[in-house]
Amino acid sequence: MANPAGPYSEKVMDHFMNPRNMGEMEGANAVGEVGNPSCGDVMRLYLKVEDGIIVDAKFKTFGCGAAIATSSMMTEMVKGKTLEEAKNISNQAVAEALDGLPPIKMHCSVLAEEGLEAAIIDYEKNAKTE
Ligand code: FES
Repeated sequence: MANPAGPYSEKVMDHFMNPRNMGEMEGANAVGEVGNPSCGDVMRLYLKVEDGIIVDAKFKTFGCGAAIATSSMMTEMVKGKTLEEAKNISNQAVAEALDGLPPIKMHCSVLAEEGLEAAIIDYEKNAKTE
């Protein structure tokens, strides 16, 4: 498929150039931080959860373009979802929402899935100690 953005879809380029929900969050009640062992890139995800629903999400990713684009798309996908629904968001689903990633960059999307998982675990841990 010929594409002016090379192997990347227009959606990947858009989320890389104009990441949604990038930065830190005041008042987050869940934080997940994960690293990608294959390249050393790191992602931190902040969630605000109210009544079991993710009402806000922000991220900081120190990583490649595909990691930034998938982090950005994932934060858009989780907003308004219950924690249970968010747990079922796979890295493939995030990549599909971006109209795909080159196979060699699929591992980058794992950062978004694992960051989300880590933040949900953090929320559940905090909820238990409250
Ligand atoms: Fe590290 Fe993409 S190369 S996440």
